[in-house]
Amino acid sequence: MLFQFRIIQFATIALHPIMDIVCSREELMLFERIGKAAEMLNVSCYVIGGFVRDKLLGRPTKDVDIVCTGDGIELANTVAGTFRHKPQVNFFKNFGTAQFRIDGLDIEFVGARKESYSPDSRKPEVEPGTIEDDQKRRDFTINALAISLNAADYGQLADPFNGVQDLDQKLIRTPLGPDVTFSDDPLRMMRAIRFATQLGFTIIDDVFEAIKRNKERIRIISQERITDELNKIMAARKPSIGLDLLFRSGLLKEFFPQMADLSGVEIVEGKGHKDNFYHTLQVIDNTADKSDNLWLRWAALLHDIGKPATKRYEEGHGWTFHGHEVVGERMTSKIFRQLKLPQNEHMKFVAKLVALHLRPISLTKEDITDSAMRRLLFDAGEDIDDLMMLCESDITSKNRMKVKKYLENFELVKQRLREVEESDKIRNWQPPITGDQIMAMFNLTPSREVGVLKTAIREAILDGVIPNNYEAAYGLLIQKAKEINLFMPSS
Ligand code: CTP
Repeated sequence: MLFQFRIIQFATIALHPIMDIVCSREELMLFERIGKAAEMLNVSCYVIGGFVRDKLLGRPTKDVDIVCTGDGIELANTVAGTFRHKPQVNFFKNFGTAQFRIDGLDIEFVGARKESYSPDSRKPEVEPGTIEDDQKRRDFTINALAISLNAADYGQLADPFNGVQDLDQKLIRTPLGPDVTFSDDPLRMMRAIRFATQLGFTIIDDVFEAIKRNKERIRIISQERITDELNKIMAARKPSIGLDLLFRSGLLKEFFPQMADLSGVEIVEGKGHKDNFYHTLQVIDNTADKSDNLWLRWAALLHDIGKPATKRYEEGHGWTFHGHEVVGERMTSKIFRQLKLPQNEHMKFVAKLVALHLRPISLTKEDITDSAMRRLLFDAGEDIDDLMMLCESDITSKNRMKVKKYLENFELVKQRLREVEESDKIRNWQPPITGDQIMAMFNLTPSREVGVLKTAIREAILDGVIPNNYEAAYGLLIQKAKEINLFMPSS
Protein backbone atom coordinates (compact mmCIF):
# COMPACT_ATOMS: atom_id res chain seq x y z
CA MET A 1 0.00 0.00 0.00
CA LEU A 2 1.48 3.36 -0.98
CA PHE A 3 0.96 6.24 1.35
CA GLN A 4 0.94 9.81 0.31
CA PHE A 5 2.75 12.22 2.58
CA ARG A 6 0.85 15.46 2.15
CA ILE A 7 2.09 18.91 3.00
CA ILE A 8 -0.54 20.79 4.97
CA GLN A 9 -0.40 23.90 2.77
CA PHE A 10 -0.78 21.88 -0.44
CA ALA A 11 -3.26 19.27 0.73
CA THR A 12 -4.55 17.02 -2.00
CA ILE A 13 -7.71 14.95 -1.95
CA ALA A 14 -7.35 11.84 0.18
CA LEU A 15 -7.81 8.47 -1.51
CA HIS A 16 -9.41 7.06 1.63
CA PRO A 17 -10.06 8.82 4.92
CA ILE A 18 -7.50 6.78 6.85
CA MET A 19 -5.02 6.09 4.09
CA ASP A 20 -3.50 9.48 3.93
CA ILE A 21 -0.89 11.08 6.11
CA VAL A 22 -0.81 14.82 6.51
CA CYS A 23 2.70 16.00 7.33
CA SER A 24 4.14 19.44 7.85
CA ARG A 25 6.90 20.72 5.55
CA GLU A 26 9.44 20.19 8.40
CA GLU A 27 8.37 16.59 8.85
CA LEU A 28 8.61 15.87 5.13
CA MET A 29 12.05 17.43 4.84
CA LEU A 30 13.18 15.45 7.88
CA PHE A 31 11.99 12.16 6.36
CA GLU A 32 13.87 12.87 3.13
CA ARG A 33 17.03 13.63 5.11
CA ILE A 34 16.70 10.42 7.14
CA GLY A 35 16.06 8.36 3.99
CA LYS A 36 19.18 9.78 2.31
CA ALA A 37 21.35 9.23 5.41
CA ALA A 38 20.15 5.61 5.63
CA GLU A 39 20.96 5.09 1.97
CA MET A 40 24.48 6.39 2.57
CA LEU A 41 24.90 3.90 5.43
CA ASN A 42 23.35 1.18 3.31
CA VAL A 43 20.56 0.39 5.80
CA SER A 44 16.76 0.41 5.45
CA CYS A 45 14.75 2.66 7.68
CA TYR A 46 11.12 3.31 8.57
CA VAL A 47 9.04 5.74 10.59
CA ILE A 48 7.14 3.54 13.01
CA GLY A 49 4.80 3.40 16.01
CA GLY A 50 2.88 6.26 17.62
CA PHE A 51 3.70 8.80 14.89
CA VAL A 52 2.12 6.68 12.14
CA ARG A 53 -0.83 5.73 14.36
CA ASP A 54 -1.55 9.31 15.41
CA LYS A 55 -1.15 10.74 11.91
CA LEU A 56 -3.58 8.15 10.54
CA LEU A 57 -6.02 9.08 13.29
CA GLY A 58 -5.53 12.79 12.68
CA ARG A 59 -4.19 13.35 16.20
CA PRO A 60 -1.39 15.84 16.83
CA THR A 61 2.04 14.31 17.48
CA LYS A 62 5.57 15.61 17.94
CA ASP A 63 7.38 12.31 18.65
CA VAL A 64 8.93 10.55 15.68
CA ASP A 65 10.25 6.99 16.08
CA ILE A 66 12.66 5.72 13.43
CA VAL A 67 13.70 2.08 13.18
CA CYS A 68 16.53 0.90 10.92
CA THR A 69 18.05 -2.43 10.01
CA GLY A 70 21.41 -1.49 11.47
CA ASP A 71 22.91 0.74 14.13
CA GLY A 72 20.31 3.29 15.30
CA ILE A 73 22.94 5.41 17.05
CA GLU A 74 25.05 5.69 13.92
CA LEU A 75 22.02 6.68 11.83
CA ALA A 76 21.04 9.34 14.41
CA ASN A 77 24.53 10.83 14.33
CA THR A 78 24.64 10.81 10.54
CA VAL A 79 21.24 12.53 10.26
CA ALA A 80 22.16 15.08 12.94
CA GLY A 81 25.40 15.82 11.05
CA THR A 82 23.45 16.95 7.97
CA PHE A 83 21.99 20.00 9.78
CA ARG A 84 23.83 23.32 9.60
CA HIS A 85 23.63 23.54 13.40
CA LYS A 86 24.10 19.96 14.49
CA PRO A 87 21.60 19.13 17.26
CA GLN A 88 22.94 17.39 20.34
CA VAL A 89 22.45 13.63 20.07
CA ASN A 90 21.67 11.79 23.31
CA PHE A 91 22.26 8.08 23.18
CA PHE A 92 21.82 5.02 25.39
CA LYS A 93 24.37 2.45 24.35
CA ASN A 94 22.78 -0.36 26.39
CA PHE A 95 19.49 0.02 24.57
CA GLY A 96 21.01 0.95 21.20
CA THR A 97 18.83 4.06 21.00
CA ALA A 98 19.63 7.69 20.22
CA GLN A 99 17.52 10.82 20.26
CA PHE A 100 17.65 14.48 19.28
CA ARG A 101 15.27 17.41 18.96
CA ILE A 102 14.89 19.60 15.90
CA ASP A 103 12.13 21.95 14.68
CA GLY A 104 10.01 21.10 17.75
CA LEU A 105 10.13 17.39 16.90
CA ASP A 106 11.53 14.72 19.21
CA ILE A 107 13.19 12.06 17.05
CA GLU A 108 14.23 8.69 18.41
CA PHE A 109 16.30 6.12 16.49
CA VAL A 110 16.58 2.42 17.21
CA GLY A 111 18.03 -0.58 15.38
CA ALA A 112 15.53 -3.32 14.46
CA ARG A 113 15.86 -6.25 16.85
CA LYS A 114 14.60 -9.75 17.28
CA GLU A 115 14.58 -12.02 20.25
CA SER A 116 16.02 -15.49 20.17
CA TYR A 117 16.02 -18.11 22.86
CA SER A 118 19.17 -20.12 23.27
CA PRO A 119 18.38 -23.67 24.37
CA ASP A 120 20.42 -23.47 27.59
CA SER A 121 18.94 -20.19 28.79
CA ARG A 122 15.35 -19.14 29.31
CA LYS A 123 16.37 -15.50 29.09
CA PRO A 124 15.81 -14.05 25.63
CA GLU A 125 18.80 -12.63 23.83
CA VAL A 126 18.33 -9.60 21.66
CA GLU A 127 20.06 -9.52 18.31
CA PRO A 128 19.72 -7.50 15.09
CA GLY A 129 16.64 -8.39 13.07
CA THR A 130 14.49 -7.38 10.12
CA ILE A 131 11.81 -4.73 10.22
CA GLU A 132 9.18 -7.43 10.61
CA ASP A 133 11.05 -9.00 13.55
CA ASP A 134 10.93 -5.59 15.18
CA GLN A 135 7.23 -5.04 14.47
CA LYS A 136 6.41 -8.40 16.07
CA ARG A 137 7.98 -7.28 19.32
CA ARG A 138 5.92 -4.13 19.59
CA ASP A 139 2.95 -3.79 21.91
CA PHE A 140 -0.14 -3.45 19.68
CA THR A 141 -0.93 -3.87 16.00
CA ILE A 142 -1.88 -0.17 15.79
CA ASN A 143 1.58 0.71 17.17
CA ALA A 144 3.44 -1.64 14.82
CA LEU A 145 2.66 0.24 11.61
CA ALA A 146 5.75 1.35 9.70
CA ILE A 147 6.24 3.54 6.63
CA SER A 148 9.33 3.09 4.47
CA LEU A 149 11.74 5.99 4.02
CA ASN A 150 13.86 4.02 1.52
CA ALA A 151 14.20 5.23 -2.07
CA ALA A 152 13.00 1.93 -3.56
CA ASP A 153 9.63 1.95 -1.77
CA TYR A 154 9.35 5.41 -0.19
CA GLY A 155 5.96 5.89 1.47
CA GLN A 156 5.09 2.18 1.37
CA LEU A 157 3.26 0.95 4.45
CA ALA A 158 4.52 -2.17 6.20
CA ASP A 159 1.52 -3.60 8.04
CA PRO A 160 2.04 -7.34 8.57
CA PHE A 161 -0.44 -7.52 11.48
CA ASN A 162 -3.37 -5.61 9.94
CA GLY A 163 -2.92 -2.57 12.14
CA VAL A 164 -4.80 -0.34 9.66
CA GLN A 165 -7.81 -2.61 9.90
CA ASP A 166 -7.62 -2.46 13.71
CA LEU A 167 -7.41 1.34 13.55
CA ASP A 168 -10.48 1.31 11.35
CA GLN A 169 -12.36 -1.04 13.64
CA LYS A 170 -11.02 0.66 16.79
CA LEU A 171 -9.46 -2.46 18.27
CA ILE A 172 -6.54 -3.04 20.62
CA ARG A 173 -4.86 -6.29 19.60
CA THR A 174 -1.32 -7.61 20.14
CA PRO A 175 0.87 -8.68 17.19
CA LEU A 176 1.85 -11.92 18.94
CA GLY A 177 -0.16 -13.97 21.46
CA PRO A 178 -0.98 -11.52 24.27
CA ASP A 179 0.76 -13.60 26.97
CA VAL A 180 4.04 -13.28 25.03
CA THR A 181 3.60 -9.55 24.41
CA PHE A 182 2.77 -8.88 28.08
CA SER A 183 5.55 -11.03 29.41
CA ASP A 184 8.00 -8.98 27.26
CA ASP A 185 6.86 -5.89 29.17
CA PRO A 186 3.97 -6.06 31.69
CA LEU A 187 3.51 -2.27 31.54
CA ARG A 188 1.79 -2.96 28.22
CA MET A 189 -1.26 -4.14 30.18
CA MET A 190 -1.62 -0.58 31.50
CA ARG A 191 -0.88 0.80 28.02
CA ALA A 192 -3.67 -1.30 26.48
CA ILE A 193 -6.14 0.23 28.92
CA ARG A 194 -4.69 3.71 28.47
CA PHE A 195 -5.00 3.56 24.66
CA ALA A 196 -8.53 2.18 24.96
CA THR A 197 -9.39 5.21 27.13
CA GLN A 198 -7.58 7.88 25.08
CA LEU A 199 -8.72 6.61 21.68
CA GLY A 200 -12.10 5.14 22.63
CA PHE A 201 -10.96 1.72 21.32
CA THR A 202 -12.04 -1.76 22.47
CA ILE A 203 -9.54 -4.25 23.86
CA ILE A 204 -10.33 -7.55 22.14
CA ASP A 205 -11.49 -10.31 24.53
CA ASP A 206 -8.39 -12.41 24.08
CA VAL A 207 -6.16 -9.56 25.13
CA PHE A 208 -8.39 -8.55 28.06
CA GLU A 209 -8.42 -12.13 29.33
CA ALA A 210 -4.61 -12.14 29.13
CA ILE A 211 -4.48 -8.97 31.27
CA LYS A 212 -6.63 -10.73 33.90
CA ARG A 213 -4.30 -13.75 33.79
CA ASN A 214 -1.08 -11.73 33.96
CA LYS A 215 -2.20 -8.94 36.32
CA GLU A 216 0.24 -9.89 39.09
CA ARG A 217 3.18 -9.37 36.74
CA ILE A 218 2.57 -5.61 36.99
CA ARG A 219 4.43 -5.82 40.32
CA ILE A 220 7.79 -5.96 38.53
CA ILE A 221 7.14 -2.55 36.96
CA SER A 222 8.24 0.61 38.75
CA GLN A 223 5.47 2.60 40.42
CA GLU A 224 6.52 5.74 38.51
CA ARG A 225 5.80 4.09 35.15
CA ILE A 226 2.47 2.68 36.35
CA THR A 227 1.40 6.06 37.72
CA ASP A 228 2.45 7.76 34.50
CA GLU A 229 -0.06 5.58 32.63
CA LEU A 230 -2.69 6.10 35.34
CA ASN A 231 -2.31 9.86 34.98
CA LYS A 232 -2.73 9.58 31.21
CA ILE A 233 -5.99 7.73 31.87
CA MET A 234 -7.00 10.44 34.36
CA ALA A 235 -6.22 13.16 31.81
CA ALA A 236 -8.42 11.56 29.12
CA ARG A 237 -11.82 12.96 28.16
CA LYS A 238 -13.66 10.14 29.96
CA PRO A 239 -11.35 8.65 32.62
CA SER A 240 -14.04 6.22 33.83
CA ILE A 241 -13.46 4.02 30.75
CA GLY A 242 -9.92 3.18 31.86
CA LEU A 243 -10.62 3.09 35.59
CA ASP A 244 -13.41 0.59 35.02
CA LEU A 245 -11.14 -1.57 32.83
CA LEU A 246 -8.39 -1.41 35.47
CA PHE A 247 -10.90 -2.55 38.09
CA ARG A 248 -12.48 -5.33 36.01
CA SER A 249 -9.12 -6.73 34.91
CA GLY A 250 -7.91 -6.88 38.52
CA LEU A 251 -4.94 -4.57 37.82
CA LEU A 252 -6.30 -1.80 40.06
CA LYS A 253 -6.28 -4.03 43.12
CA GLU A 254 -2.61 -4.80 42.48
CA PHE A 255 -1.34 -1.25 42.81
CA PHE A 256 -4.23 0.78 44.27
CA PRO A 257 -6.30 -1.52 46.52
CA GLN A 258 -7.88 1.39 48.42
CA MET A 259 -9.71 2.45 45.26
CA ALA A 260 -10.82 -1.09 44.45
CA ASP A 261 -12.19 -1.30 48.04
CA LEU A 262 -14.76 1.38 47.17
CA SER A 263 -16.61 -1.18 45.10
CA GLY A 264 -19.65 -3.18 46.18
CA VAL A 265 -23.03 -2.74 47.78
CA GLU A 266 -23.97 -4.16 51.17
CA ILE A 267 -27.62 -4.70 52.10
CA VAL A 268 -28.93 -4.82 55.68
CA GLU A 269 -32.64 -4.84 56.60
CA GLY A 270 -33.34 -4.40 52.91
CA LYS A 271 -31.34 -1.16 52.79
CA GLY A 272 -28.36 -0.84 50.48
CA HIS A 273 -25.93 2.02 49.90
CA LYS A 274 -24.52 3.43 46.67
CA ASP A 275 -21.72 1.49 44.98
CA ASN A 276 -19.05 4.03 45.86
CA PHE A 277 -16.68 2.85 43.13
CA TYR A 278 -19.09 3.56 40.29
CA HIS A 279 -20.31 6.72 42.01
CA THR A 280 -16.66 7.90 42.15
CA LEU A 281 -16.18 7.17 38.43
CA GLN A 282 -19.23 9.28 37.66
CA VAL A 283 -17.88 12.14 39.78
CA ILE A 284 -14.51 11.98 37.98
CA ASP A 285 -16.22 12.12 34.57
CA ASN A 286 -18.37 15.02 35.74
CA THR A 287 -15.27 17.00 36.81
CA ALA A 288 -13.54 16.02 33.55
CA ASP A 289 -16.48 17.59 31.66
CA LYS A 290 -15.90 20.86 33.50
CA SER A 291 -12.10 21.13 33.77
CA ASP A 292 -8.76 19.80 32.51
CA ASN A 293 -7.14 20.19 35.93
CA LEU A 294 -5.59 16.78 36.66
CA TRP A 295 -5.52 17.46 40.42
CA LEU A 296 -9.20 18.34 40.54
CA ARG A 297 -9.82 14.94 38.93
CA TRP A 298 -7.63 13.36 41.62
CA ALA A 299 -9.71 15.11 44.28
CA ALA A 300 -12.78 13.55 42.64
CA LEU A 301 -11.09 10.15 42.67
CA LEU A 302 -10.27 10.44 46.38
CA HIS A 303 -13.30 12.36 47.69
CA ASP A 304 -14.99 9.24 49.11
CA ILE A 305 -11.85 7.14 49.67
CA GLY A 306 -12.50 7.23 53.45
CA LYS A 307 -15.93 5.61 53.07
CA PRO A 308 -15.01 1.91 53.39
CA ALA A 309 -13.18 2.63 56.68
CA THR A 310 -16.06 4.64 58.17
CA LYS A 311 -19.04 2.62 56.94
CA ARG A 312 -21.57 1.74 59.68
CA TYR A 313 -25.11 0.48 59.65
CA GLU A 314 -27.20 2.33 62.22
CA GLU A 315 -30.28 0.36 63.10
CA GLY A 316 -33.52 1.97 62.05
CA HIS A 317 -31.58 4.71 60.30
CA GLY A 318 -29.46 3.23 57.53
CA TRP A 319 -25.90 3.45 56.26
CA THR A 320 -23.60 6.21 57.48
CA PHE A 321 -20.04 7.23 56.64
CA HIS A 322 -19.43 9.73 59.45
CA GLY A 323 -16.07 11.45 59.24
CA HIS A 324 -15.14 9.92 55.89
CA GLU A 325 -13.90 13.32 54.71
CA VAL A 326 -11.43 13.51 57.63
CA VAL A 327 -10.23 9.93 57.09
CA GLY A 328 -10.01 10.64 53.35
CA GLU A 329 -7.91 13.74 53.94
CA ARG A 330 -5.44 11.68 55.97
CA MET A 331 -5.38 8.87 53.41
CA THR A 332 -4.56 11.32 50.61
CA SER A 333 -0.92 11.90 51.53
CA LYS A 334 -0.37 8.17 52.15
CA ILE A 335 -1.84 7.28 48.75
CA PHE A 336 0.20 10.00 47.03
CA ARG A 337 3.34 8.49 48.60
CA GLN A 338 2.32 4.94 47.65
CA LEU A 339 1.65 5.94 44.02
CA LYS A 340 4.77 8.14 43.85
CA LEU A 341 2.65 11.19 43.12
CA PRO A 342 4.23 14.50 44.19
CA GLN A 343 4.27 15.40 47.89
CA ASN A 344 3.84 19.09 47.12
CA GLU A 345 1.15 21.75 46.77
CA HIS A 346 -0.83 19.46 44.41
CA MET A 347 -1.15 16.88 47.19
CA LYS A 348 -2.16 19.61 49.66
CA PHE A 349 -4.78 20.88 47.20
CA VAL A 350 -6.27 17.38 46.79
CA ALA A 351 -6.26 16.74 50.57
CA LYS A 352 -7.94 20.11 51.18
CA LEU A 353 -10.70 19.44 48.66
CA VAL A 354 -11.30 15.95 50.08
CA ALA A 355 -11.57 17.48 53.59
CA LEU A 356 -14.00 20.19 52.47
CA HIS A 357 -16.08 18.28 49.94
CA LEU A 358 -19.22 18.04 52.10
CA ARG A 359 -19.27 21.68 53.16
CA PRO A 360 -20.94 23.36 50.15
CA ILE A 361 -23.69 20.73 50.06
CA SER A 362 -24.42 21.38 53.74
CA LEU A 363 -25.13 24.99 52.75
CA THR A 364 -28.09 23.96 50.60
CA LYS A 365 -30.18 23.55 53.76
CA GLU A 366 -32.50 26.38 54.71
CA ASP A 367 -31.65 29.06 57.30
CA ILE A 368 -27.99 29.21 56.36
CA THR A 369 -26.42 32.38 57.71
CA ASP A 370 -23.97 34.66 55.93
CA SER A 371 -21.36 33.72 58.51
CA ALA A 372 -21.48 30.03 57.37
CA MET A 373 -20.91 31.29 53.83
CA ARG A 374 -18.01 33.53 54.95
CA ARG A 375 -16.46 30.63 56.84
CA LEU A 376 -16.49 28.39 53.76
CA LEU A 377 -15.03 31.16 51.61
CA PHE A 378 -12.29 31.66 54.17
CA ASP A 379 -11.50 27.93 54.58
CA ALA A 380 -11.46 27.24 50.84
CA GLY A 381 -9.61 30.48 49.99
CA GLU A 382 -8.45 30.59 46.39
CA ASP A 383 -9.62 26.99 45.81
CA ILE A 384 -13.32 27.83 46.24
CA ASP A 385 -14.15 27.54 42.51
CA ASP A 386 -12.53 24.11 42.25
CA LEU A 387 -14.29 22.99 45.43
CA MET A 388 -17.64 24.09 44.03
CA MET A 389 -16.93 22.20 40.78
CA LEU A 390 -16.12 19.06 42.75
CA CYS A 391 -19.29 19.35 44.84
CA GLU A 392 -21.49 19.95 41.86
CA SER A 393 -19.93 16.88 40.22
CA ASP A 394 -20.68 14.89 43.38
CA ILE A 395 -24.42 15.27 42.80
CA THR A 396 -25.23 11.93 41.17
CA SER A 397 -28.34 9.78 41.36
CA LYS A 398 -30.26 7.42 39.13
CA ASN A 399 -33.26 9.63 39.76
CA ARG A 400 -33.02 12.50 37.25
CA MET A 401 -35.60 14.61 39.08
CA LYS A 402 -33.54 14.43 42.28
CA VAL A 403 -30.38 15.49 40.46
CA LYS A 404 -32.26 18.40 38.89
CA LYS A 405 -33.60 19.56 42.25
CA TYR A 406 -30.21 19.28 44.00
CA LEU A 407 -28.50 21.16 41.19
CA GLU A 408 -31.07 23.97 41.45
CA ASN A 409 -30.46 24.25 45.21
CA PHE A 410 -26.75 24.19 44.59
CA GLU A 411 -27.09 27.05 42.12
CA LEU A 412 -28.70 29.10 44.90
CA VAL A 413 -25.71 28.41 47.18
CA LYS A 414 -23.34 29.51 44.43
CA GLN A 415 -25.35 32.69 44.00
CA ARG A 416 -25.26 33.49 47.73
CA LEU A 417 -21.53 32.74 47.94
CA ARG A 418 -20.99 35.20 45.09
CA GLU A 419 -22.98 37.87 46.93
CA VAL A 420 -21.15 37.35 50.23
CA GLU A 421 -17.80 37.37 48.45
CA GLU A 422 -18.71 40.56 46.62
CA SER A 423 -19.60 42.41 49.78
CA ASP A 424 -17.00 40.95 52.19
CA LYS A 425 -14.07 39.97 49.88
CA ILE A 426 -13.24 36.92 52.01
CA ARG A 427 -11.59 34.73 49.33
CA ASN A 428 -8.04 36.05 49.71
CA TRP A 429 -8.80 37.82 52.91
CA GLN A 430 -6.37 38.28 55.80
CA PRO A 431 -7.60 39.67 59.14
CA PRO A 432 -6.78 43.39 59.53
CA ILE A 433 -4.25 42.77 62.35
CA THR A 434 -1.46 40.26 61.71
CA GLY A 435 0.40 37.98 64.14
CA ASP A 436 3.55 40.11 63.68
CA GLN A 437 1.66 43.23 64.67
CA ILE A 438 0.27 41.51 67.78
CA MET A 439 3.77 40.40 68.79
CA ALA A 440 5.13 43.93 68.34
CA MET A 441 2.27 45.54 70.30
CA PHE A 442 2.55 43.21 73.29
CA ASN A 443 6.28 42.56 73.05
CA LEU A 444 5.68 38.84 72.57
CA THR A 445 7.69 36.11 70.89
CA PRO A 446 5.80 33.50 68.84
CA SER A 447 3.58 31.78 71.39
CA ARG A 448 0.16 30.34 72.16
CA GLU A 449 -1.14 33.78 73.24
CA VAL A 450 -0.49 35.23 69.77
CA GLY A 451 -2.53 32.41 68.26
CA VAL A 452 -5.40 32.93 70.71
CA LEU A 453 -5.62 36.65 69.92
CA LYS A 454 -5.32 36.14 66.17
CA THR A 455 -8.07 33.50 66.18
CA ALA A 456 -10.35 35.68 68.31
CA ILE A 457 -10.14 38.52 65.76
CA ARG A 458 -10.64 36.21 62.78
CA GLU A 459 -13.61 34.38 64.29
CA ALA A 460 -15.34 37.57 65.41
CA ILE A 461 -15.12 38.99 61.86
CA LEU A 462 -16.20 35.74 60.17
CA ASP A 463 -19.14 35.46 62.60
CA GLY A 464 -20.13 39.05 61.88
CA VAL A 465 -19.66 40.08 65.56
CA ILE A 466 -17.39 42.96 64.56
CA PRO A 467 -16.96 44.65 61.16
CA ASN A 468 -13.97 43.85 58.99
CA ASN A 469 -11.76 46.87 59.75
CA TYR A 470 -8.68 47.80 61.77
CA GLU A 471 -10.42 49.92 64.44
CA ALA A 472 -12.95 47.23 65.35
CA ALA A 473 -10.24 44.54 65.35
CA TYR A 474 -8.01 46.71 67.54
CA GLY A 475 -10.83 47.25 70.08
CA LEU A 476 -11.49 43.51 70.26
CA LEU A 477 -7.77 42.76 70.56
CA ILE A 478 -7.36 45.02 73.62
CA GLN A 479 -10.44 43.48 75.25
CA LYS A 480 -9.32 39.85 74.60
CA ALA A 481 -5.75 40.63 75.73
CA LYS A 482 -7.06 41.95 79.05
CA GLU A 483 -9.06 38.73 79.53
CA ILE A 484 -5.81 36.73 79.41
CA ASN A 485 -3.88 39.30 81.50
CA LEU A 486 -1.85 40.76 78.66
CA PHE A 487 -1.15 44.47 78.56
CA MET A 488 0.69 46.70 76.17
CA PRO A 489 4.14 47.59 77.54
CA SER A 490 3.47 51.37 77.44
CA SER A 491 0.01 51.27 79.08
N1 CTP B 1 6.38 0.37 22.51
C1 CTP B 1 6.18 -0.96 22.82
N2 CTP B 1 6.04 -1.35 24.13
C2 CTP B 1 6.11 -0.45 25.13
C3 CTP B 1 6.31 0.91 24.84
C4 CTP B 1 6.43 1.29 23.50
O1 CTP B 1 6.11 -1.79 21.93
N3 CTP B 1 5.98 -0.84 26.39
C5 CTP B 1 6.56 0.75 21.09
C6 CTP B 1 5.26 1.00 20.34
O2 CTP B 1 5.48 0.66 19.00
C7 CTP B 1 5.09 2.51 20.46
C8 CTP B 1 6.53 2.99 20.36
O3 CTP B 1 7.29 1.98 21.02
O4 CTP B 1 4.29 3.04 19.45
C9 CTP B 1 6.78 4.35 21.00
O5 CTP B 1 6.46 4.29 22.37
P1 CTP B 1 5.90 5.52 23.20
O6 CTP B 1 6.53 6.78 22.70
O7 CTP B 1 6.00 5.18 24.63
O8 CTP B 1 4.35 5.48 22.89
P2 CTP B 1 3.49 6.00 21.69
O9 CTP B 1 2.88 4.81 21.04
O10 CTP B 1 4.26 6.92 20.82
O11 CTP B 1 2.30 6.75 22.40
P3 CTP B 1 2.35 7.93 23.49
O12 CTP B 1 3.26 8.96 22.96
O13 CTP B 1 0.93 8.33 23.60
O14 CTP B 1 2.86 7.28 24.75
